[in-house]
Amino acid sequence: MQVHDAEIIISAVSPKQYPDTGLPEFALAGRSNVGKSSFINKLINRKALARTSSKPGKTQTLNYYLINKMFYFVDVPGYGYAKVSKTERAKWGEMLETYFTTRTTLLHVLLMVDFRHPPTADDIQMKEFIDYYDIPYTVVATKCDKIKRGKWNQHASIIKKAMNLPSMDSLIIFSSETGEGKEKVWKLLEQYL
Ligand code: GTP
Ligand code: MG
Repeated sequence: MQVHDAEIIISAVSPKQYPDTGLPEFALAGRSNVGKSSFINKLINRKALARTSSKPGKTQTLNYYLINKMFYFVDVPGYGYAKVSKTERAKWGEMLETYFTTRTTLLHVLLMVDFRHPPTADDIQMKEFIDYYDIPYTVVATKCDKIKRGKWNQHASIIKKAMNLPSMDSLIIFSSETGEGKEKVWKLLEQYL
């Protein structure tokens, strides 16, 4: 897809603030610092529309990006960030649960994991949560530029097995540095558009 238009619409903290346009949306979920914001920037060919940071926990709200006035990317705050308080964590969990269980315009979740490492307990829990609510999802394994190609199959198998993925089709190997996997992601999203 040629992206000719991308704008941040809102950083939402509550459902009242979610857009009411009825346009389809795709959520980016995953651990803090995994590369969700970088993923959005790469897909839309913008350097820094979605704020990225080497400091985890940057994205704390549901950030809506409207693409080609056609659909939204929703950058979901990262989990597994140890430095937030218990209260903040509970609030975050509640917000996510509400979002995933009630948002009818949410068509597909891109669950981002770090290609370099086996999935964490948080990653697996997130996958089970999405599965439980029957939301279509694809795992995007990012930062693949950090792994030699000869090791890709091995890393992919570990992720598939640990997350109990139905097939390799549920996994896209990705890099925001090189653009690896970008076409596959667009193909997936275009099925909905
Ligand atoms: P939170 O907003 O804290 O949840 O983080 P995030 O998931 O949005 O991560 P972000 O995109 O901010 O990226 C975190 C760090 O990882 C940044 O320093 C990025 O430059 C780096 N990064 C992201 N994607 C890639 C990638 O594909 N390859 C490499 N080498 N680095 C990446
Ligand atoms: Mg972010």
